[in-house]
Amino acid sequence: MAKSDIYSPLPPWQRTDYCGTLRGADEGRDVALWGWVQTRRDHGGVIFIDLRDRDGIVQLVLNPTHNAAAHEAAGDARTEYYVAARGKVVRRAEGAVNPELPTGEVEIIVNDFEILNVATPPPFAIDDGESVAEETRLKYRYLDLRRPAMQHNLRARHQAVKAIRDYLDAQGFIDVETPILFKSTPEGARDYLVPSRVNPGKFYALPQSPQILKQILMISGFDRYYQVARCFRDEDLRANRQPEFSQIDLEMTCPRPEDVQSIAEGMIAAAYERVRGVDIKPPFIRMTYAEALDRFGSDKPDLRFGLELKNISSALAGTGFKVFADVLAQQGSVYAINLPAEHQLTRRELDELTDGVKTRYSTGLAWVKIGDGGWQGPIAKYLSDEEKSRVTAIVAAKHADTLMMVAGDAAKVQPILGDIRLQLGGKFGLRDSSELKFLWIVDFPLFEYGEEDKRLISVNHPFTAPHPDDLLRLDSAPLGARALAYDMVLNGEEMGGGSIRIHSRELQLKVFELLGLSREEAISRFGFLMDALGSGAPPHGGCAFGVDRLCMMLCGTDSLRDVLAFPKTGKAVDPMSGAPSEVDARQLRELSIKVTP
Ligand code: AMO
Repeated sequence: MAKSDIYSPLPPWQRTDYCGTLRGADEGRDVALWGWVQTRRDHGGVIFIDLRDRDGIVQLVLNPTHNAAAHEAAGDARTEYYVAARGKVVRRAEGAVNPELPTGEVEIIVNDFEILNVATPPPFAIDDGESVAEETRLKYRYLDLRRPAMQHNLRARHQAVKAIRDYLDAQGFIDVETPILFKSTPEGARDYLVPSRVNPGKFYALPQSPQILKQILMISGFDRYYQVARCFRDEDLRANRQPEFSQIDLEMTCPRPEDVQSIAEGMIAAAYERVRGVDIKPPFIRMTYAEALDRFGSDKPDLRFGLELKNISSALAGTGFKVFADVLAQQGSVYAINLPAEHQLTRRELDELTDGVKTRYSTGLAWVKIGDGGWQGPIAKYLSDEEKSRVTAIVAAKHADTLMMVAGDAAKVQPILGDIRLQLGGKFGLRDSSELKFLWIVDFPLFEYGEEDKRLISVNHPFTAPHPDDLLRLDSAPLGARALAYDMVLNGEEMGGGSIRIHSRELQLKVFELLGLSREEAISRFGFLMDALGSGAPPHGGCAFGVDRLCMMLCGTDSLRDVLAFPKTGKAVDPMSGAPSEVDARQLRELSIKVTP
């Protein structure tokens, strides 16, 4: 085998430009490029090659009468071969200008051409035209990442993170790294555990977030901390969740919620300005958690369209319709969505919605159409004319509208109608992808009741401070206590969230106690934090934003996998490397681990 078959050294010239940057103004310049062969066309002796690098494509022209050796070398080039070319930029003839290509006004008359590496034919074309199965894209990620869309997305991600770093630096935040091998941090998901070889039977937990450590950094006097932090959560995956993801995590000393929110707005605005060139105009509106659920059935409402929920309980007080009367008698509510006349659902679609509600909740969905002769639909006959007119007034229903009602415990009914609202918004194309509807959700409850564990659980995490006005409720009615917590929402997606933290050791112990953790247990698990809080901890608070989610929104895609270089599938697998994989019996022995099937 000749040496050149296994290894082609670099040509003795330097690259001068990226392919995609050449324009008419470069006419006459001598340039040297390297990149991949997108296509090669042989037009009666003259070879045309579209050469691609990270900035785009430019056309190379190899004419045998101009340089026979270069022309001959180019004859061997195939799709995805990596080549080097040197030549002169010329304007294309009038009819040959390609308006589709940013470099379409010019081409390169090549003098020197070398193949630096060969390639097996790729399993899919390296362009954005073809839709390729995700599994295949992830298996051949090194090829998938060559596609212009992925090059664009990862570059946008870089720009977003750079803009945020610049912004936080200017605001006096200091970047501090925290360990990956640490203790469990209670963010609500399962931990990824790492066995310790030198401490048999003991495990580190990969951080679900740097929550406790950033609080300790405040106690240690850094005043303003941030980090692009890797977080690990073993939870069920969805399009907007990965087992391993990044947060822009920050914490500051003595903030009010508005101070953290204003910093967060500034950094998101910096990212939008840098990547998309748009001014998103903070401050964003604030909406309480209670209002968001009441009006949108969600703590991350999509404000790009209406179809708001309406509580129609007051209109039905004293109703003779047993289903509603029973619910109201048990302190339940009846909520409704009015679908305006321009959006019509067929009987079958209404039945499907009803079935969907029934599988989640026993009561089901009651619907009526506002027809010529009044209400029409399965339940119309059970309601009196006064009740109908009171309901119609609350929901502002007009002729030919469709009214959908669900009765029951408000906490159950709101999210069900909230989901129906989103389904209808999607079905009738009410979500304009060019709109950006930011808002803050504030006044989250501190606790919720965990049906599984039959005890209080934190809505945010256990270090969240109670609202000062609700401190007395901690003993009497903890489920009614609000937290100093806030989430930023964009178009129905939670971008980030945070809170003011508990900085008093006693209050932290009390909250742990309410969460079912005795003083002793709390001290044994979080003693280091308790001691730190007892060492003159200043008041502090902060927030964390999902970098991947932010970039997904910035790039207008609906999957985190489009903004991560090497993501995992829904089964937490990396099809390229095959991770996770089995390990040697010897490794397991060293770790004192036995695998039982
Ligand atoms: P939280 O758990 O709300 O808060 O996470 C903050 C943000 O991180 C993103 N995020 C995720 N992104 C991708 N995949 C996941 N599995 C995933 N889980 C969360 C979301 C979310 O809004 N320590 C607190 C923050 C604080 O209180 O300061 C925390 O981690 O965008």
